[in-house]
Amino acid sequence: MTEPKRYLITAALPYANGPVHIGHLAGCYLPADIYVRYLKAQGKDVVFICGSDEHGVPITIKAKKEGVTPQQVVDKYDGIMKNAFKAFGIDFTYYGRTSSTIHHQTAQAFFKTLYDKGIFKEETTQQYYDEEAQQFLADRYIIGTCPRCGNPNAYGDQCEKCGTSLSPSDLINPKSALSGASPVLKETKNWFLPMGELQQSEAFQQYIQRFDSWKSNIKGQCQSWLNDGLQSRAMTRDLDWGVPVPIEGAEGKVLYVWFDAPIGYISATKEYFNGTAAWEKYWMDKETSLVHFIGKDNIVFHAIIFPMMLMTHGNFILPTNIPANEFLNLEGDKISTSRNWAVWLHEYLVDFPNREDELRYVLTSIAPETKDSEFTWKDYQTRVNSELVSIFGNFVNRVLVLSEKYYEGKVPRVLSELKDEKLKAARETCFDALGNSLHQMRQHLDAVKLRDALSCFMDAARAGNKYLAETEPWKLVKTDEENTKAIMYDAIQICAKLAIAAEPFLPHTATRLKAMLKAPTLAWNGLFNENILPDGHQLNKAEILYKQVADEEIQVQLDRLQRIKTENETVAAPISSSPETIKAPQHHPVKSDIAYEDFDKIDLRVGKVLAAERVPKADKLLKLTVDLGFEQRTILSGIAEYYQPQDLVGKLVTVVANLAPRKIRGIESQGMLLMAGNDFGKLYSVGSEKDIEPGSVVK
Ligand code: 2FM
Ligand code: ZN
Repeated sequence: MTEPKRYLITAALPYANGPVHIGHLAGCYLPADIYVRYLKAQGKDVVFICGSDEHGVPITIKAKKEGVTPQQVVDKYDGIMKNAFKAFGIDFTYYGRTSSTIHHQTAQAFFKTLYDKGIFKEETTQQYYDEEAQQFLADRYIIGTCPRCGNPNAYGDQCEKCGTSLSPSDLINPKSALSGASPVLKETKNWFLPMGELQQSEAFQQYIQRFDSWKSNIKGQCQSWLNDGLQSRAMTRDLDWGVPVPIEGAEGKVLYVWFDAPIGYISATKEYFNGTAAWEKYWMDKETSLVHFIGKDNIVFHAIIFPMMLMTHGNFILPTNIPANEFLNLEGDKISTSRNWAVWLHEYLVDFPNREDELRYVLTSIAPETKDSEFTWKDYQTRVNSELVSIFGNFVNRVLVLSEKYYEGKVPRVLSELKDEKLKAARETCFDALGNSLHQMRQHLDAVKLRDALSCFMDAARAGNKYLAETEPWKLVKTDEENTKAIMYDAIQICAKLAIAAEPFLPHTATRLKAMLKAPTLAWNGLFNENILPDGHQLNKAEILYKQVADEEIQVQLDRLQRIKTENETVAAPISSSPETIKAPQHHPVKSDIAYEDFDKIDLRVGKVLAAERVPKADKLLKLTVDLGFEQRTILSGIAEYYQPQDLVGKLVTVVANLAPRKIRGIESQGMLLMAGNDFGKLYSVGSEKDIEPGSVVK
C-alpha cells in the first residue's frame, strides 16, 4: 500500500448530553489520540477532528429531564466535555460543535445537493405519534422490545444491548418515552436514503472491498447488515431541535441526527481552516487517508450510511479504516450514564490530580479492541503499581538518581566498551529485547493494535530494568568505574528512547521525562539511534514519575460505586417507564428591593486571576489567587465543574472585595467571584478586556 500524503482522523462526536466517562475514553478518544500522536511524532501531516454532537433526541430528552432548554444542555456539556478531553491530553486539532452556523450551512448544503440530484425518495408513511405530548416519536422518543435480543428497553433507532440498528416499527410493544403511553400511527412526509438501491451500485460494491482489511468486528457487523439487505432510512425527522430541512414543504422538520452529525467532521475541518479551501484536500484528495475512530454502536453509520452519503454527493473520499472498539464495562456491569454507573473523567481529575496518564495507561492496557472488556479499580491499582511504578517509573528513577550521584547528572563519557563477558551478555540481551519490543510496538501502532503496542512499550522498559538488575551498577561502581560508566551511558540512552516511545500513550509523562533529561524535543527517529544524548549532556534533577496507588484511594472509589448501586436499587425506574412532564426553564425569582445605601456597601472590584488549582477532595471548588491591584487574595470559587484551572489564569473577574473572610475546607476565602449564569452553567463576569486594571471599582 502506498503511503498516504496526509491523514484525516476523526473521533465520534459525543452527544453533548452528559459528561465524559472512561467508556468514552477507552472506546474511541484515547485510541484516536494515541494513533494521531504516533503519526505526528513521525512528522506526518495529520488533522484530528472531533466536536460536540448537539442535535438528536438524547439532547432533548436530557433537556426535558432537567427542565431546561436543549441549548442550555449543549452549552453546558460542550464545555465540560472539551475540558475533560483537554485534561487527558486528547489533542484534537479542532473540536467543533454541530450547533455552529458553518455546520448548519454545511449540513443543509449537503442535503440540498443530494436532494437536487434526486437521490432521496420522498415518502408519506405512518409514524408513531404521542397524542398526549402531541409529537411524533422518532428515534429515542420511542422504546420497546428489541426483536433481535429481547431487550425490553431498546430505542426506536437502536438497541444498545445488541447494537442492532432499528426503526420504530421494528420494536415490539412500543411505548412513548415522553409519556409512557402507547403511540398511535399518523401520516407524515419524510425524505429517505434508498439504501437498498445504493447497496447494489457499483461504487458501493467497490467500496465494501475495503472491509476485507478492517477489524473483524466491523467486517462481521457490516456483512450481516449487507446479507440482510439494507432498508431505506428517513434522513429527516418531525422534530423541532436540529438542522432545519432546507427545502420547501419540509417546514417544521429537521435533518436526522445521523445525517447531520458525521457531516460535523466536514464542518469542523472547514472551521479549522477558517473557511479557506485548504480543508478540501483533506476531504477530497484521494491521497488522504480518512480514519474514523468509533465505538461499536456507531459502526453502521460510519461504515455504511455516511459513505453512501459521501458517495452520492460525489466529491468526497471514503474511509480508509474504521477501527471500531467494543464496549468497556465497569466492575461487572455495563457503564450507564442514566444509572450513574461510570467513572467520570471530571471526578477522576479531582480524586487523582495530575495522574491522567495512569488512567490512559490502564484504559489502553484493557482497551476493548476485539471484545468487551472490564475496568475494575483493583486491576487499576495492580497495573499502575506493578507496571508503571515498578517497571517504567522505577527504571527511570534509578537511572537519574544514580547519574546524579555518580556523575553530577551528566551523561558519562565512555572510554571503552564493556569487557566483562557477563556484562556484555547482559547488554546484548537488553538491546535485543529493547530493539524487538520497539520494533513490534511500531508495527502494532501501524495496525492500530494499541493494546499490544503498549505492552511492547512496557517490555522495552522491562528490558532496561533487567539490564540494571543484572549488572548492578550501584555495586559495580565500587570496583569498576569504567564498566559502570558504559552501563549508565546505555541506561540514559534507554531512558531517552522510552521518553520518545511513551509520547503517544503517556504524553504527560513523556513531557516530564524529557524535561528531566533536559531534552524537550527528542525526535522520533531517536528510537533507531544508539546514542541520543551525547556524553557531557547535563540532565535535570530526578523526579518521581508515578506514585503507588494506595488501598485507601481504591476503597474510596469502590465505596462510591457501592453507594450508587444501593441508590439504583431503591430509586424509581428511568424515563422510559416513569414519564416526566416537560418543565419550563426555571428562573430564579427576583429578590425583594434593597435601598441604594445597602447596595453601596458592597465593594466590587476587578481582579486578575494569577493562579488557579483544584481543591483536593472537593469536586466543585477551585482555589484562585486573585490580584486586586493593591493586594493579592486567595478566593475559593465553586466553578471547578465549568473551568480547567489553567484556562482561568490571566482572566479578569469581578470580585466582592469586602465580603468577610470565611474558611472553606480549611482554607480562608478572602472574597467572592461574581459569575453570570444559573445553577446550570457559569460564565465570566468580566473576561479579558485589556484596558481594565485590576483593582478598578465596578459600579
Ligand atoms: O453515539 C454517539 O455518541 C453519537 N453522537 C456519535 C456521532 S459520531 C458522528 F457521526 F458524528
Ligand atoms: Zn437487541
